[in-house]
Amino acid sequence: MKKMIKLFDPVVGIKEELAIRKTLKSHFWASGAGTGSVLKFENKFNQYIGSDCTVALNSGTAALHLALSLFDIRNREVVIPSLSFVSTAHAVIYNGGIPIFVDVDPNTLCIDPDQLRKSITKKTKVILPVHFAGMPCDLDEIIGLCEEFKIHLIEDAAHAVGTLYKDRKIGAHGDAVCFSFHPVKNLAMPTGGAISLNGNNAKKFKKILQSRRWCGIANRKRWTYDVNDLGWNYYMNEFSAAIGIEQLKKLDYLNNKRRKIAQEYSDKINVEAKMPFNKESSYHFYWMQVKNRERFMSKMLANNVETGIHYKPIHRMSFYKQRVNLPNTDKASEHLVSIPIHPNLSGSDIEKIIQLINKLC
Ligand SMILES: Cc1ncc(COP(=O)(O)O)c(C=O)c1O
Repeated sequence: MKKMIKLFDPVVGIKEELAIRKTLKSHFWASGAGTGSVLKFENKFNQYIGSDCTVALNSGTAALHLALSLFDIRNREVVIPSLSFVSTAHAVIYNGGIPIFVDVDPNTLCIDPDQLRKSITKKTKVILPVHFAGMPCDLDEIIGLCEEFKIHLIEDAAHAVGTLYKDRKIGAHGDAVCFSFHPVKNLAMPTGGAISLNGNNAKKFKKILQSRRWCGIANRKRWTYDVNDLGWNYYMNEFSAAIGIEQLKKLDYLNNKRRKIAQEYSDKINVEAKMPFNKESSYHFYWMQVKNRERFMSKMLANNVETGIHYKPIHRMSFYKQRVNLPNTDKASEHLVSIPIHPNLSGSDIEKIIQLINKLC
């Protein structure tokens, strides 16, 4: 049987295996005990990003939920792109806010700052851009808008671990930046997430989040503690953190491999609309737009190459069905296809993918 080229595939080795075994044998698998991997990961990740503080959590969805909980957004508007995974919008609803969908720039598929400006009202409390597929948003423009209108910036960096923006890592700019370490992500764990915090409130926010990630528990002294806030069960576990520590060590190397593949796709794939090359991007996935998507994806699969769709826009989902005018989002999403770009691809896999696409399109 011929090998299937997967759309996503984490890079795992002996170091991850050893880390798992060590955690298993420690008999302490929750956070805050045993081998202390969660705290270690948190510190190392914070150092890597260059943020003021980091709080490790059990998913990117939890990160978005808790980051938005730092600002009272009840009945206030949070501006987001519709072209994203649904958690970006759910997190707004979890906190009693109103998601306002904004169109994307057709070249990068990141939120369009001009449309963003038009969507700001007296009720806007937070701008929540998504660094789509690992491509950095225009943060200078977005930060400028936040300062002009006194709005908070929370970034959805689920796709953007290791992405750069003007020589600093994504995560070093916004008030709160949310990462996902879902197994398909560039830094893979069984499940995991984190919030990077910056600015004058970073330390205060870290304390609040440490309590909210574990049921509101605070002031632990030996076997006693108090609960002075509502919290959730969102802490990262020791297995995830132990794997994350190993994944973090090779993240830049693996992201550079992704960038090299992106450069090749950019040069050699003969499709008009495709993800541009930008050496700052971490290329979580590589998107292109094709005319007959169903046929294209079926043919790719028949040739043992998995592809995917990122995303059906959130405003088109039954739960969110909204009549908003997002022409770039709607136009792109009808034709979007993601193709494999993970670092496990061999030279011949990459060659095969390019040749197949050029034959089919
Ligand atoms: C843009 C975006 N935001 C948030 C999330 C949620 O992350 P998680 O799956 O870790 O909860 C994802 C996950 O795929 C995502 O792609």
